[in-house]
Amino acid sequence: MSAPASVPDTLDTPSKQGFHRRIGVFDSGLGGLSVLRALHQYLPLAEMLYVADSGHAPYGEKDTEHIIARSEYITNFLLEQGAQAIVIACNTATAAAAQHLRNRWPNVPIIGVEPGVKPAVTHSPSGRIGVLATPGTLASPKFQHLVERHGRNADITLQACPGLAKEIEGGELDTPRLRELVTQFARPLQEAHSDTIVLGCTHYPFVRPLFEQVLGPEVRIIDTSDAVARHVAHLVTELPACAPQTCSGHIRFWSSGKPAHLSQIVQRWFNLECEAQALP
Ligand code: DGL
Repeated sequence: MSAPASVPDTLDTPSKQGFHRRIGVFDSGLGGLSVLRALHQYLPLAEMLYVADSGHAPYGEKDTEHIIARSEYITNFLLEQGAQAIVIACNTATAAAAQHLRNRWPNVPIIGVEPGVKPAVTHSPSGRIGVLATPGTLASPKFQHLVERHGRNADITLQACPGLAKEIEGGELDTPRLRELVTQFARPLQEAHSDTIVLGCTHYPFVRPLFEQVLGPEVRIIDTSDAVARHVAHLVTELPACAPQTCSGHIRFWSSGKPAHLSQIVQRWFNLECEAQALP
């Protein structure tokens, strides 16, 4: 099957910067692959360790304690595998658990992601922006602070998208059900005349073409994965280099759900051979 329009044909894109480092990345499931893709583009020589917590997805509809416990377990696992830095490739887990992880591992760089409210406000000609995210992200104090900090003078429409990440987890990116959900969640933003829309969940870039079709070409869509990857690429220069023979652009995958499903998706979306293992 050919790669969908939102996904490059391969992860082997040209090098922007090359550093031999080992980086742990996790998400509730497949969404973090949108961040992994950008990380690999900026750091093609770094070894990436990716955990999809698909057995516990979606995080966006779980309570904070559960997400903190899962994030702690996975971070510990990634550090045991030799990760030098952790990227929380999930807005919901960042909102719920980033501070907890930083308190627990103060010497490990822990990089989170957050909805791109700031760039949206900067770029919106009308000041009317929309944010699509999980119910958990939108309800979190961290997100409320983000809006207070950067969105004071903007007219912001918040749209929770229950069920959308779960549907994307299935791996088919253009189903009638997905089109229905995208149309439903886009409608309040259209009614509010938002001209800039934030994809505030790392799963959503995989259905960006559907949002583009529904919202039309005048609406700007903000996805922060590239900015996050740039930030990580800059940050890891301060970490010691791994021996090139042990760390050379390889990506290892684990899943707490069905490893075969993750392998199949990585192969299908990125044309990359993948043998995901079960997360212990
Ligand atoms: N990909 C995640 C995020 O960025 C979470 C989706 C979910 O598990 O609900 O928020």
